[in-house]
Amino acid sequence: RESALADRFGRRITYLRISVTEHCNFRCAYCSPAEGTPFFARKDHLQVEEYDRLIAIFAGLGVRHMRFTGGEPLIHPHLHSLIAAAQRQGIGKISVSTNGLLLPRKAELLRQSGVNNLNISLDSLEPEVFARVTRGGKLQEVLQGITAAVAAGIPRIKLNVVLMRRENGHALADLVRYALEHHIDIRFIETMPLGEAGSAAQQSEFLSASEARERIEAELGTLYPAFRPTDNGPAQLYQFAGQPRSHIGFITPISDNFCASCNRVRLTASGRLVFCLGQENGVDLLPMLRSTYRDADIAEQIRARIWQDKPERHEFVTDPERSSRIFMMRLGG
Ligand code: GTP
Ligand code: 5AD
Ligand code: SF4
Repeated sequence: RESALADRFGRRITYLRISVTEHCNFRCAYCSPAEGTPFFARKDHLQVEEYDRLIAIFAGLGVRHMRFTGGEPLIHPHLHSLIAAAQRQGIGKISVSTNGLLLPRKAELLRQSGVNNLNISLDSLEPEVFARVTRGGKLQEVLQGITAAVAAGIPRIKLNVVLMRRENGHALADLVRYALEHHIDIRFIETMPLGEAGSAAQQSEFLSASEARERIEAELGTLYPAFRPTDNGPAQLYQFAGQPRSHIGFITPISDNFCASCNRVRLTASGRLVFCLGQENGVDLLPMLRSTYRDADIAEQIRARIWQDKPERHEFVTDPERSSRIFMMRLGG
């Protein structure tokens, strides 16, 4: 199928990030309010059949990569059947972004349902730091989750580390060593000022990717730029000599924005299609799903609105009013 989705800036949209819940079993400081997300009535949430319908519509519009996110996607009881729906629609690249907590129970099912990319958050290997950043998470359980995912044979596993000057800025090399030992990739991410991550306290934690790279090289030696396969996301990839199985990546939304090559849109659990992580423009698909719209009508709305309204680049606003409304929890990263 040809890609039918494009915007006014010449970008083709072939990647859909699907949030399956706004809830999470962690409360990471840079992502979630301390008290968790507000109650969200079941009727305002996409049902499994509605997700299935949208997955088919987006596949028909030429989307080739679907990533399931949250909140925490593994808390959705039917995640595996949504993944299976994507597979039935011929989606070749099926990914999940998780905090890893439920992987010991769910890794095997994820692999069986067709997941071929798994990104797992891991911000620290120090139990006290890990507990503070996730507001209560147990490091050991997530490490068991990573082991379970490797053992289940999920093909491409990457660790995501959000950079925080004081919390993990001194221990980046330890995280790299852990990835090298497990033959998996690791990416370091600059914090985006969304929700509470926009507060002055959290902004003082900011650590740029270039400084992170210097710190890693000072301990572990030169990083060489790695050939980047196309469609491999926003990370700049590096490798160490003699360590061909792990890529070390840096995601730089703040210091060097990658919006010119953006290929993605996001679906929230309440059925809103959002065109950019750092902006509010979007279109509510839920009322269309629950009215007399046919699939072709919905597809046409999606096509036309992405063309008209996908912004050229993210603009992270420091206005606390507005930025607090764009919580990561809702947009799935
Ligand atoms: P792959 O590279 O395909 O595995 O996916 P990914 O890196 O896009 O996915 P992941 O869910 O692991 O996100 C990693 C980080 O990149 C998170 O901090 C995301 O918020 C960020 N990110 C992903 N897509 C975008 C985007 O379009 N814009 C911005 N600013 N950040 C993004
Ligand atoms: N800035 C950068 N990355 C973030 N994530 C969550 N919130 C932020 C933020 N404010 C990351 C998580 C997860 C990914 C999906 O998004 O670490 O790995
Ligand atoms: Fe949950 Fe992931 Fe957000 Fe942490 S980053 S609160 S694990 S959704």
